[in-house]
Amino acid sequence: MQKTILITGSTYGIGLETARMLVSLGHNVLLHGRNPAKLKEVEKTLSALPDGGRVESYMSDLSRMADVEELAKAVAEWHVKLDEYILEILNEAAQPL
Ligand SMILES: NC(=O)c1ccc[n+]([C@@H]2O[C@H](COP(=O)([O-])OP(=O)(O)OC[C@H]3O[C@@H](n4cnc5c(N)ncnc54)[C@H](OP(=O)(O)O)[C@@H]3O)[C@@H](O)[C@H]2O)c1
Repeated sequence: MQKTILITGSTYGIGLETARMLVSLGHNVLLHGRNPAKLKEVEKTLSALPDGGRVESYMSDLSRMADVEELAKAVAEWHVKLDEYILEILNEAAQPL
């Protein structure tokens, strides 16, 4: 079954490879990162995968609470239902409570 999956930190490293695999399997992937140029490039590359799912991009800095809330709002605005989310950047973005 096709799913819609948000992957934070998906312009590089483990997040990018996870996104590549899930798009290849036909899932719709919501990419995320801070750098708009990188996001655009990754969106273009993954959108071109044969028989891949749909790809869109969201930009936000997860070390800023206001950005986290904006990301949640933007995703909720466009997607009635999000099946999964994968957090890939907890080490760098996480703030001590
Ligand atoms: N790489 C490994 O071999 C390895 C092994 C074990 C565990 N891990 C852990 O797995 C996680 C991912 O590691 P990684 O090496 O694949 O990549 P990473 O450098 O931790 O993450 C890169 C991604 O995170 C985004 N990002 C970083 N800080 C952000 C922030 N404050 N707000 C929003 N986006 C942010 C980057 O986007 P922009 O470039 O657009 O900012 C990029 O898409 C980390 O927690 C790491 O410790 C990694």
